[in-house]
Amino acid sequence: MTDRAALEAHLKYYTELGVNGVSRDPAWRERQASDPPESVATATVEVSELPASTEAVAPMTGVASVEGPAESTGDPAADLVALRDYIGDCTRCKLHQQGRKQVVFGVGNPNADLMFVGEAPGADEDQQGEPFVGRAGQLLTKIIEAIGLNRSDVYIANVIKCRPPANRNPEPDEVATCEPFLFRQIDTIRPKVIVALGTFAAHALLKIDTPISRIRGRVHEFRGGAKLIPTFHPSFLLRNQQNRAMYRDVWEDMKKARAILDAPN
Ligand code: URA
Repeated sequence: MTDRAALEAHLKYYTELGVNGVSRDPAWRERQASDPPESVATATVEVSELPASTEAVAPMTGVASVEGPAESTGDPAADLVALRDYIGDCTRCKLHQQGRKQVVFGVGNPNADLMFVGEAPGADEDQQGEPFVGRAGQLLTKIIEAIGLNRSDVYIANVIKCRPPANRNPEPDEVATCEPFLFRQIDTIRPKVIVALGTFAAHALLKIDTPISRIRGRVHEFRGGAKLIPTFHPSFLLRNQQNRAMYRDVWEDMKKARAILDAPN
């Protein structure tokens, strides 16, 4: 990405998120961390912040199991269809008896270089059978577009494929049963970059329980290949719209993702 394209993406991202300007003045910046978006003043943009380079890569600890059809066809699209068929109308964990309408497998480009992993489907996703289609999903779409990509360029999946009742946190037995399918999706798509959306996804993927505040801001090594970038979950951003620092952090994380995607292999 050129500096100009990065700057345009930066502006588009903030504009769509309701911000209409930033300043070099540190006092102004401090105010933004607490002020609601409506009060953001128009001023200049910090060009020197763009674009970010990738930093030290922390290794992944622990090993995750993978589940799916025994054979791979070598074609990621066909393999994902086979994995979806293998999962079927899943009854492997108790969630199938707890009000979920359908399995929400994943969506997007089977050859994607960039993959997003969330926690579990919510009500909208359960209805439509597609991850991230509700309010959080609309914000995620804007975040994707801010780095010059479309939803159809990336792949989006969740750790858990069925909606937990009343959006409660997934339970350990549900994670243990379902996450091998996510790992199979990742091994099939082989993305260059995985963005873990929120604590739950980051912990499931990295097999650690370090607070997100300590793992975000760094690029992590994931299963011999992909770079994993933990960031805040879009729902968390929506619940904390007045905290502009968090939006800036997500933007920093997305710039890291873009830099890795743009780097020569
Ligand atoms: N939150 C998630 O983690 N995943 C979705 O698909 C929707 C909301």
